Amino acid sequence: MGSQSTDGGLGQEFTSHVIQAMGPNTTPRMRTVLSALIQHVHDFAREVNLTTEEWLAGVEMINWAGRMSNDKRNEGQLVCDVIGLESLVDDITYREASKTDKPPTSSAILGPFWRADAPIRENGTTITFNTPKDGVVAYMHGQVTDAETGKPLPNTSVDVWQASTNGLYEQQDDDQIDCNLRGKFITDAEGRYSFYCLRPTPYPIPFDGPAGKLLKLMDRHEFRPAHIHLIVQSEGYSSLTTQIFDKDSKYLEDDSVFAVKDGLTVEFKPRKGDSQAEWDLEYDVKLAKKN
Ligand code: BEZ
Ligand code: FE
Repeated sequence: MGSQSTDGGLGQEFTSHVIQAMGPNTTPRMRTVLSALIQHVHDFAREVNLTTEEWLAGVEMINWAGRMSNDKRNEGQLVCDVIGLESLVDDITYREASKTDKPPTSSAILGPFWRADAPIRENGTTITFNTPKDGVVAYMHGQVTDAETGKPLPNTSVDVWQASTNGLYEQQDDDQIDCNLRGKFITDAEGRYSFYCLRPTPYPIPFDGPAGKLLKLMDRHEFRPAHIHLIVQSEGYSSLTTQIFDKDSKYLEDDSVFAVKDGLTVEFKPRKGDSQAEWDLEYDVKLAKKN
């Protein structure tokens, strides 16, 4: 096939041959992405002298991830998370938006536990319905504004979700009611939102599958620092997916999925005069106008 390198192995000529096998109906973007993927995967195999046994072990990990995945669990995404790929892609996607002297709030990865069908709840109400004995309630509130002008953004959806103190999101846990610890809040005329939630606690990502096996192989732990997830959406503005991290939490320096970023750590302060919450968290969000 005329694609062997001078040492008789399959070298760059072979790789070019595989890339050039794509037909004329492949779209330009697909050609760019797949060409680079093939090039890097071939170079990787050559660099580490990948053996058939090792390659098959990798294939089995991918198949195992597929078998474990369903509408409640996305193991493929989890595997990407422990090798930092979701964080890297998030950074690449949103880097442009931050190249301004008035940047919007930083983004962070979505993770596998968001639900599209979270209910809309009234501002000032709660998302914690099965508050566990070791759970501590916090009142979270803030204002959403235009990053450039500071103008408040009313009628903006603030979609939040968090794990319980046992480390489980409600869809992973039969003991939590449907949509516990999640909800969407619509900002008022001043762009303000508010709700009661749990002060978040660190938790392990699911480690009984290939993502956990990878962590073991890399001699790493499975914990994430305490965080709350947010998606903030306003008409005419770029949607923001992010996470905020308790500045006093363990694992800020060694998050198992590499999601912690500067500017996303927050301080919970003691809340006075409110029998419903021990902690107060004020968190304002800035959104960038859509181009
Ligand atoms: C999460 O924060 O929900 C999460 C993110 C990545 C992997 C697993 C969980
Ligand atoms: Fe999470």
